[in-house]
Amino acid sequence: MMIFLDSADLKEIEELAATGLVDGVTTNPSLVAASGMSFSELITKITKLVEGPVSAEVTALDAKGMIAQGRKLAKIAENVTVKVPLTVEGLKACKALSAEDIMVNVTLCFSLNQAILAAKAGATFVSPFVGRLDDCGADGMQLIEDIAKVYETYAFDTLILAASIRHPQHVYEAAKIGVDVVTIPGKVFRQLYTHPLTDLGLDAFMKDWKKSGLEI
Ligand code: G3P
Repeated sequence: MMIFLDSADLKEIEELAATGLVDGVTTNPSLVAASGMSFSELITKITKLVEGPVSAEVTALDAKGMIAQGRKLAKIAENVTVKVPLTVEGLKACKALSAEDIMVNVTLCFSLNQAILAAKAGATFVSPFVGRLDDCGADGMQLIEDIAKVYETYAFDTLILAASIRHPQHVYEAAKIGVDVVTIPGKVFRQLYTHPLTDLGLDAFMKDWKKSGLEI
């Protein structure tokens, strides 16, 4: 399972990429807007911080505009993945961009039928938004399970990128289903390795070791 950071915070990306456990980054217009940086400068810097796929989202709403913006974004770096929304225009743009060997992440996916169309459009990744479905009382993880089953049935090449992840439970539930990628905020990334019993156990080991006077 690949772990992407869902972030446009360069400091956070640099800090967590240093773990060697970050396989890529996803951004979206809201995250980019909050960064206060120019889009191309921000994406350029992120593509240098991680070797893996870096999603940069188009803002045009028509296929022609999305394709033009996607081609421009893809030129920034080889690991740029163009993000398009799961609309009919986005699907048309996905079809065109993927035919030009440009990686495409089809985002804002909220239904199994949408995910099927993303795969048929040649998407590299599809991003079902788990948390936002949960937020409105639906079962986001059930959608992930359904997509995984249908994608396996038809041997679709599109990778499932579980997005809108709210907490560590989403991560292991997605892993148990067998998603290809989870994209997670820095806060959730840090929660993955933190456990009070690990901290308590380490403290106890260090206390006993110090008392022993032994050295390695
Ligand atoms: O960036 C895509 C997705 O992960 C954002 O989800 O619900 O945290 O804004 P959300």
